Amino acid sequence: MTDDQLSTLIKDAIGAAERAYVPYSHYHVGAALHTPDGAVYAGCNVENAAYPATICAERVALVKAVSEGERTFDTIVVATNNGGSPCGLCRQMLYEFAPKLRVVMVDFEGAVHWDGVLSDLLLNGFGPTDLET
Ligand code: THU
Repeated sequence: MTDDQLSTLIKDAIGAAERAYVPYSHYHVGAALHTPDGAVYAGCNVENAAYPATICAERVALVKAVSEGERTFDTIVVATNNGGSPCGLCRQMLYEFAPKLRVVMVDFEGAVHWDGVLSDLLLNGFGPTDLET
């Protein structure tokens, strides 16, 4: 991915965070998931009065993409006010499709706080191959 493409993806993630529905935590999260073909699926966190029903931005982006037929991903940008890190559930769901996904955590100024590979965030993760007999 070029620097320009990454800048666009960062803007997409920050834009998605603006649409977060967060009346409880007030913590806006935006995610922009990129495919090798150049498609981008953005998501924001959507909270619920029944708190555990809340869904994270990363999983919104992922399920949007998979439900549109995408299964191959190369990069995700996650945007928060403090460059926060994806939760364990999101790491696991992303790992299913892309253990080598590039994960870039940014703040709302676009500053990069972390840039690395999903398998380093979910060491020795459980995936589809673990179910092969
Ligand atoms: N959140 C995300 O959207 N992604 C994460 O990976 C971490 C947490 C959301 C869920 C909730 O709406 C808020 O951040 C506070 O936990």
